[in-house]
Amino acid sequence: MGMSGKLMVGNWKMNGSLAANAPLLSDILNGMGDVNCRAAVCVPAPYLAQAQNLLAGSALDVGAQDVSAHESGAYTGDVSAAMLRDFAVRFAIVGHSERRQYHGETDAVVAHKAQRALAAGITPIVCVGESLAEREAGQTEAVVKRQLAAVIHTNGHCISEIVVAYEPVWAIGTGLTATPEQAQGVHAVLRAQLQAATAHADRVSILYGGSMNAANAVVLLAQPDVDGGLIGGASLKASDFLSMLKAASR
Ligand code: PGA
Repeated sequence: MGMSGKLMVGNWKMNGSLAANAPLLSDILNGMGDVNCRAAVCVPAPYLAQAQNLLAGSALDVGAQDVSAHESGAYTGDVSAAMLRDFAVRFAIVGHSERRQYHGETDAVVAHKAQRALAAGITPIVCVGESLAEREAGQTEAVVKRQLAAVIHTNGHCISEIVVAYEPVWAIGTGLTATPEQAQGVHAVLRAQLQAATAHADRVSILYGGSMNAANAVVLLAQPDVDGGLIGGASLKASDFLSMLKAASR
């Protein structure tokens, strides 16, 4: 069981616009009166200033979807952790499967991204997860442990400061969700791996991600090692996201 209080994080991916974000964020804020979980939205980098402005002083934190593995310099197109910090960013997703797959991010790169975030006071949300082929080949545990091991190796005693998101690749954006038992099984493996690395593994929130929605959130969040969610599609509609925040506030 991770840190008390669930953590629910929206991952907008490459969606949104100045015009659409404003009502989405204000509708979420207006519905958060009876929400008592921790909550954040990871917005595209160009909208960080807008999110910072609209969410200042609220219970909804600002997150980014990626961070550079480098500190500064000749890395065209990269956004550094210090730059994110300038916009009051609290969380940065690192190693999302879409970045591993489409941008060739290796376990080592992901580990360095987590390190840059931590050094800037930003909580990295480290994503791990197996593909369908890997699950069918019985490699799920080995894959997620390899992905997390790189981050543990590079970040040493800071490891209790991270958030982990277990996102089976076959469940992302597909409408296929891991069963509560499948999710809990992998979360327990990740918790044990963190316990071997730090005395404070119970402080690490381990989120589930992959087609989480208002209907399946309650049973997933009831699992002992599911400490919250990383939510893509269902975070783009205020009413859906709010239902999930409420499911996490029981
Ligand atoms: P999904 O995405 O909820 O749309 O499946 C989750 C994610 O990729 O973070």
